[in-house]
Amino acid sequence: MNDELLMRAAREYGTPSYVFDLDAFKERIETVSGYFRGRAEICYAMKANPFLTGAVCGLSAGYEVCSPGEYAICKRAGIPADSIVLSGVNKEAQEICHVMDTGGAAVYTAESERQLSLLESCAAARSIQIPVLMRLTSGNQFGMDEETILKHATRPLHYPHLDIRGIQYYSGTQKKKTEPILKELARLDEFCCRIESETGLTLHTLEFGPGLYTPYFQGEAAYPEENVLAELSRAIENLRFKGNVVLEMGRFLAAGCGYYLTRIADCKTNSGQNYCIVDGGIHQLNYYGQTMAMKLPFIRHLPQSPAGDGKGPSSCTVCGSLCTTADVIVKQLPLIHPQPGDLLVFEKTGAYSVTEGISLFLSRSLPPVLLYSRQHGMFQAREAYPTDLLNAPRQTAAQAAPFR
Ligand SMILES: Cc1ncc(COP(=O)(O)O)c(C=O)c1O
Repeated sequence: MNDELLMRAAREYGTPSYVFDLDAFKERIETVSGYFRGRAEICYAMKANPFLTGAVCGLSAGYEVCSPGEYAICKRAGIPADSIVLSGVNKEAQEICHVMDTGGAAVYTAESERQLSLLESCAAARSIQIPVLMRLTSGNQFGMDEETILKHATRPLHYPHLDIRGIQYYSGTQKKKTEPILKELARLDEFCCRIESETGLTLHTLEFGPGLYTPYFQGEAAYPEENVLAELSRAIENLRFKGNVVLEMGRFLAAGCGYYLTRIADCKTNSGQNYCIVDGGIHQLNYYGQTMAMKLPFIRHLPQSPAGDGKGPSSCTVCGSLCTTADVIVKQLPLIHPQPGDLLVFEKTGAYSVTEGISLFLSRSLPPVLLYSRQHGMFQAREAYPTDLLNAPRQTAAQAAPFR
């Protein structure tokens, strides 16, 4: 997105704010899908950025939905039920029933034996049969182990209202090396074939989150993403498992389409160290892999006025507006004559920044969210949202009806 547009967004809607480029997001999905056409589909893990949910509509991609809140967002965005994968480590009966009563989902994942039973009883109460994926654990609290899955695949009659369609697997994000991803895929291939041969069940779907890498920092070795996608595509092509493959992705699709805009509010030098204080902070900005603010993300400095003293860049530590020494966004950023009022644009903030921060700390407002497309221009999807109301009692103890 060009500087002019970003400056206009900051002028008209204020800072800090997020801008998400919907065209860039859609193009990204199309490009990634292109590597797998005919063999694997893309499923957008909407936790990466729920504001992009509506933009996926009409593309050949599904949605991984992990909470009642995410489901509500899908409903408001008019996402068709048959593109929703109802996922999540804690699905409660009320949530499952609500989904079933409001259109259902394309498939439900089961992360435990209890979830299998819950899905069964909710489906039985409605006399419907629902498609289910059993999540295989990667050695943590998510999913079930191989033996548990095999046990339930062997006894599908135990759950007459569940149609066991396949396996879901996700083990983590930011996988820089391709080899471990291909190993996981090979293990899943073997496991699917084992289920089929040992139980006689035919599996239709392997839903796999590869956790592909997004390079966030300057100076990193180039990440050969075309090669990675081509290799992954070849590996899927060569699977013995011949059912559908669905690739769950979040960061890899969304990161590149986001910009976090923040203005320099103050500049000072303390004991020889230059500081810029910006109106945003670490509560709204999250680069996976950043350590002690030492790595340099991709940042644009857009001065408010072309002033300058002709000097070259000087190093500046950029800090946010929180009352904690931890609020250091980046150390030793080379900036040419930074001034209060200048805009700093943090790139690649389309995934997780908008939701993952400690955004209630210090009762600062949640930033506005702006969505941009060539067709519709800049559109305010969320206004700045005050958090002071959330961080204080709604009524005094004397007014409230106490519970003792
Ligand atoms: C089950 C599942 N699938 C997919 C994803 C998306 O992962 P990523 O953003 O690494 O693509 C996540 C992220 O937490 C996840 O939990």
